[in-house]
Amino acid sequence: MTEHWNAIRKHWQLLGSPLRPPAQVVEAYERELELSQSHVVMFGVTPELTGLGATMTAVDESPDMIAGIWPGDTDTRKAVQGDWFDLPFPGASVDALIGDGCLSVIGAADLRRALFASIARALKSDGRAGIRLYACPETRDEPQQVRALALAGGVSTFHELKWRVAMTAMGGAPDYTIPVTGILEHFDRMFPDREELSARTGWELPVIGTIEVYRNSSVVYSFAPTAALIKEAVAFFDDVRLASTGTYGLAECCPLLVLRSPKRLD
Ligand SMILES: C[S@@+](CC[C@H](N)C(=O)[O-])C[C@H]1O[C@@H](n2cnc3c(N)ncnc32)[C@H](O)[C@@H]1O
Repeated sequence: MTEHWNAIRKHWQLLGSPLRPPAQVVEAYERELELSQSHVVMFGVTPELTGLGATMTAVDESPDMIAGIWPGDTDTRKAVQGDWFDLPFPGASVDALIGDGCLSVIGAADLRRALFASIARALKSDGRAGIRLYACPETRDEPQQVRALALAGGVSTFHELKWRVAMTAMGGAPDYTIPVTGILEHFDRMFPDREELSARTGWELPVIGTIEVYRNSSVVYSFAPTAALIKEAVAFFDDVRLASTGTYGLAECCPLLVLRSPKRLD
């Protein structure tokens, strides 16, 4: 897992929306969770989100990501190496927790449930969490539709296309999972001519080439629909809802899952 993220770190500057959260997303976290007076725990070291909260502790298992992406510790924010499933905080001690795309990068439903359990354990009774989702639509696009949309200039960034390909490539996979190697294979089948894709969309070849990082990775992503994620989350929280994060490309698949009233299960 950390090798996968270290490889991604090396081309971080070539990534873009929706993987890197646009300003609208940052505003949505603030609007929905009212973070400005709170100490915020962040899953991952997403640089765009580091201004949120009065103070922040970011938790990431990868020392390379902390060294390479985190903008640096200050009086009000720090990053610590740690595991989201075994957080370095006492139970019921966290006011506010955020995470960008976290549920998609950990894999199958048992791990998603373990993550919800970990968040519920960490949050104070009146605490709140917001996780931006990458959720596939209930009715999935066909690969031909995605290809036509991209070649017609209807996809905002290569990274939006990558997620659209991933969502079509999942097929009927249990738990809505897809190994990242499968995303690459489907992309190569749908867009065998990268130069044509580049010419038709204006995306630089090195940006398209970022997908090569999936070739030797054993990581499994998931793109569960919102209804499935809500069903998983309500086992751990009494108050679960979705909030829009804006109007950027693919925003309709990237709402904030807002979690409150953690159940005390253990
Ligand atoms: C926040 S997530 C997603 C980032 C980005 N928005 C995207 O969609 O690609 C990426 C980070 O999660 C970290 N990570 C993944 N699983 C983790 C775990 N179980 N514990 C701590 N960090 C983890 C990785 O090291 C990486 O820095």
